Amino acid sequence: MIRIPRGTQDILPTETKKWRYIENKLDELMTYYNYKEIRTPIFESTELFARGVGDSTDVVQKEMYTFKDKGDRSLTLRPEGTAAVVRSFIENKMQGEPNQPIKLYYNGPMFRYERKQKGRYRQFTQFGVEAIGAENPSIDAEVLSLVMHVYQAFGLKKLKLVINSIGDMESRKEYYEALQAHFKPVIHEFCSDCQNRIDSNPMRILDCKVDRNHEAVQNAPKITDYLNDYSKAYYQKVKELLDVLEIPYEEDPNLVRGLDYYTHTAFELMMDNEAYDGAITTLCGGGRYNGLLELLDGPKETGIGFALSIERLLLALEEEGIELPVDDEFDLFIATMGERADTYAVKLLDACRKNNIKADKDYLSRKLKGQMKQADRLNATYTIVLGDQELDNDEVNLKTMETGEQQSIKLSELVSHLK
Ligand code: HAM
Repeated sequence: MIRIPRGTQDILPTETKKWRYIENKLDELMTYYNYKEIRTPIFESTELFARGVGDSTDVVQKEMYTFKDKGDRSLTLRPEGTAAVVRSFIENKMQGEPNQPIKLYYNGPMFRYERKQKGRYRQFTQFGVEAIGAENPSIDAEVLSLVMHVYQAFGLKKLKLVINSIGDMESRKEYYEALQAHFKPVIHEFCSDCQNRIDSNPMRILDCKVDRNHEAVQNAPKITDYLNDYSKAYYQKVKELLDVLEIPYEEDPNLVRGLDYYTHTAFELMMDNEAYDGAITTLCGGGRYNGLLELLDGPKETGIGFALSIERLLLALEEEGIELPVDDEFDLFIATMGERADTYAVKLLDACRKNNIKADKDYLSRKLKGQMKQADRLNATYTIVLGDQELDNDEVNLKTMETGEQQSIKLSELVSHLK
């Protein structure tokens, strides 16, 4: 038997209802914040991610689905959305548009070859936003308040916002030297990836999944002690604005994120639930990326954004016992007795549907009792039973399922009555 690929999932009809609800709600929220939807391809040139996300990240080194197409081009199934949105911004010369900053959002499948775990998939669905073209702490604060709003809109309460500033490139230079000096004496105790990264990108060691709990990681120099005046002031202003917005947060100087393009503001939203025994508690992550556009040969513009996966949002809802209001409503089930009634039902169904009435009938020649059970399963508001008598007399009993109440009406007027 052919099975579903590891790390992927089928989303069956009872679940797709929840997905639709979530996605519609997210679309609605975006209108309040003035973000517009963008759709980019599922695959991009491999170089976009190698350069944009960073050669020394786990995502690029270990997790990409990369393949050659028949024209010998190296392509990669997108592992995240930011690099692609930035590519599109540059390619479509959005910096020339008058309505700056350009505020975009996206929602779609992403692919990472990761170890399967609860809340971690190889195909997952990211909803994300990117605000490009403004370097102003108030847009950072907007993105952070939007993150909180998204989760609160679904009734989630047990949330913990963790923030940090990883400064600009100038602050980073001195910090890298401090990290190298700190880790050099013990680097032989670290995984081979960290041993390679100490020279090229020592900050990655702080984010290593293998060595996360090593003592030297815990007491490593803190980036916040190395921020230059501009970075310090920027971070301070972001925090002040969070206070103005009454958004509680924790600071974690070891939060460096897993992708290389970040500068200044970096953040993650976690599930704040000690009882939660799963390993995955990060619901979403994001931050500012001041060098990314130039790195991708674009204009000297900066951006900030975040992404969440809908899979983890659903997990959080389950954890907090929140049911989404997704009950199916169904209008009419037509039960039939005999071939003549069944043929009439085909025509009647057609008329119902063309008048926006949700209707169905039996297709398995069930006995009347079985047909009524089917009406129950469909959660139909009304049922009728059609037989020769109803057809001959142009009269039918419209039964309200919940109360059992019956009303006699003209069969030929059923559709207009229901409408
Ligand atoms: P990221 O932290 O790599 O950031 O991913 C963001 C979110 O995507 C995670 O917090 C998590 O909810 C979800 N996610 C990531 N990997 C998986 C997985 N294997 N299975 C399920 N969910 C997953 C980014 O991707 C950045 N592009 C975010 C961003 C936007 N930064 C600035 N703008």
